[in-house]
Amino acid sequence: MECVLRERAFEGETHIVTGAAQGIGNCVAQVLAAHGAQLVLVDLDPGRLAEAAQEIKTAGGLEPIAAAANVAEEVDVQRAVGIALEATGCINGVVNVAGITRDARIPKKSYEDFKAVMAVHLYGTFLFTREVAAQHWHLLFKKNDNQPLADGVNRFIVNFSSVSARNGNIGQIDYTAAKGAIEAVTRTTAREFASYRARVNAIAPGPVNTPMLEKIGTEGIQAMGRATLVGRIAEPVDIANTVCAIADPKLFGYTSGQVFAANGGMYMA
Ligand SMILES: NC(=O)c1ccc[n+]([C@@H]2O[C@H](COP(=O)([O-])OP(=O)(O)OC[C@H]3O[C@@H](n4cnc5c(N)ncnc54)[C@H](O)[C@@H]3O)[C@@H](O)[C@H]2O)c1
Repeated sequence: MECVLRERAFEGETHIVTGAAQGIGNCVAQVLAAHGAQLVLVDLDPGRLAEAAQEIKTAGGLEPIAAAANVAEEVDVQRAVGIALEATGCINGVVNVAGITRDARIPKKSYEDFKAVMAVHLYGTFLFTREVAAQHWHLLFKKNDNQPLADGVNRFIVNFSSVSARNGNIGQIDYTAAKGAIEAVTRTTAREFASYRARVNAIAPGPVNTPMLEKIGTEGIQAMGRATLVGRIAEPVDIANTVCAIADPKLFGYTSGQVFAANGGMYMA
């Protein structure tokens, strides 16, 4: 993966990326690693995680740590954050990418599916946010006599929303509920984590060319591309580069509590 921002911008830093086995999360991990970060990759399947880790290593990045976990399971998330801390002693950033869809119109939407979608997106985001604070950042704050940290260390969270949180999307009452909540959670976390000098932001992509869009088909994807101002849907690298920029304190060090629309101009708030 090509360095497009400051080369080695994240040298000496550890970043956790969830949903790292494929799609956007995989690409985010590759781009952060290309800029020097030590990655902790989180996803469900250890085999696919090992492949993702090998890809990063082959491309010249630091060998990633693979922490298989279901982001919706409290003990899994506690363990994943523990693994990251044990291996590196420091977590600089968390990118909460993992996601699922269970599309169905409201009359046919099962409560089980609604809960599953909320659990992966919203509860997963909450659990990683809480654990990085509980196991690490809040302890640093306490050690600092409960004073805001002034150690100059880069700390950030980037959460994943979607254009559909603002614009709605048929079949996605669960997904849009979770994404809207993630935007709200981002603002509250930004306020609480200001004492850790952690910047907390979210990105809200439009359609991105990943397996999540497989069911939509080529014609649907082309139609969505035409609905943007840039004439195409996003590639994962478009989103990964935006995440990388937000994570870089030299570029976005004065920005917290924001939701960045990365939708090719398909929707303007
Ligand atoms: N693709 C799009 O068009 C699009 C648009 C807007 C927002 N997003 C958001 O971007 C994020 C990534 O989407 P994507 O398109 O790369 O999806 P994807 O389906 O290609 O990849 C999602 C990854 O998350 C992992 N995952 C799912 N459930 C998990 C769990 N419980 N624990 C751990 N890992 C889990 C999957 O195994 C997979 O590797 C999601 O939050 C999605 O809502 C995607």
